[in-house]
Amino acid sequence: MHHPELFSPLAIGRAEVALPNRIIMGPMTLNQATESGHITPWIVDWYRARAAGGTGTIIGAAVFVAQNGRGWGNAVGIADDSYTDGWRECVQAAHDHGALFGTQLFHGGAASKESLLGHQPLSASDWTRDGFDPARAMTEAEVEQAIEDFAEGARRSIMAGCDFVELHGAHGYLLHQFWRGDVNHRTDKWRKLTAFPEAVTRAVREAIGPDVPLLYRFSIHADDPAAENQPVTPDSLREFLETLEAAGVDAWDISCWKESRRGYFGTDKWLPDWVDQFSDKPRLVAGNLPTPESAVDYLSGGHAEAAVLARGLIADANWANKAASGQPIRPLAPDDVSGLSKGIDPGV
Ligand SMILES: Cc1cc2nc3c(=O)[nH]c(=O)nc-3n(C[C@H](O)[C@H](O)[C@H](O)COP(=O)(O)O)c2cc1C
Repeated sequence: MHHPELFSPLAIGRAEVALPNRIIMGPMTLNQATESGHITPWIVDWYRARAAGGTGTIIGAAVFVAQNGRGWGNAVGIADDSYTDGWRECVQAAHDHGALFGTQLFHGGAASKESLLGHQPLSASDWTRDGFDPARAMTEAEVEQAIEDFAEGARRSIMAGCDFVELHGAHGYLLHQFWRGDVNHRTDKWRKLTAFPEAVTRAVREAIGPDVPLLYRFSIHADDPAAENQPVTPDSLREFLETLEAAGVDAWDISCWKESRRGYFGTDKWLPDWVDQFSDKPRLVAGNLPTPESAVDYLSGGHAEAAVLARGLIADANWANKAASGQPIRPLAPDDVSGLSKGIDPGV
């Protein structure tokens, strides 16, 4: 076998659930759901092809847990029981080929538009995210409701047969909006930047029980220690990780986009290595690991316990099997990502 470093199992969580290998498909919003956010056969086929191609673990796309958390048209949802059967089909497609499957529970918060929601978007505070409509601060009751919505989304994911769930705490969506000191200007108990992520994590952990792995995706791409108003420092990262770990997180999905090989906080130390300093939990790292060589290099360097791939698995659904057999992998072509919104799957 080629690249054996990618093909050992990885145990996650209290029950040591074994991810079959170190290749994880990152969550990808492809806007192929129905207008209401229900799963279509296209989406089931999309997941099936990646599972059949040897991907050990699939994180389903950002899935809105409440109608007021929608971020895009035709994106997937899990906001009531009518969504559960569609997810069951996705889970089954993955299981048919030995892959694990979980949802990425999502609330867009301010990253939305009135035309999609039928009302003003909600956020931690009054805030306008670039490219979106002005959002207003959630009331305390709305914050409590959002926590319950995440928990309900987790419960439905388990009903659908998911092997784990992930919280989407990255990329400036609702969980991240509460964590950001330059967005969260509340004066109530949710002013503490970790309070909402912690409450959601606790509620989801309660909903799924102690043994189902809970992943948390976070990002701090905008981190610039020299800039004012940027919330993340080594100390605040430590507090964030320790708080969420105590609340029930089993593994970090560290979203680095193109920055998985750059130093953070004014040092040469990469973000996953900072995480390693503060947490013993496995690190699943996403961000520009497009070839088996780049993924092996990252893992062997001790920067991650598993590689999360998005664009590589758009380009070639058989990425993992080809990595194992040493066959050439189809690289991403310029139109691959834009073609997805037209329903073209370039990787099969
Ligand atoms: C088409 C597309 C859709 C994406 N949708 C999501 C999403 O729903 N949730 C999320 O956390 N990240 C999303 N991402 C980010 C990926 O999960 C991943 O972190 C990023 O693309 C970096 O990995 P890569 O270099 O392997 O592409 C998306 C990326 C792409 C290309």
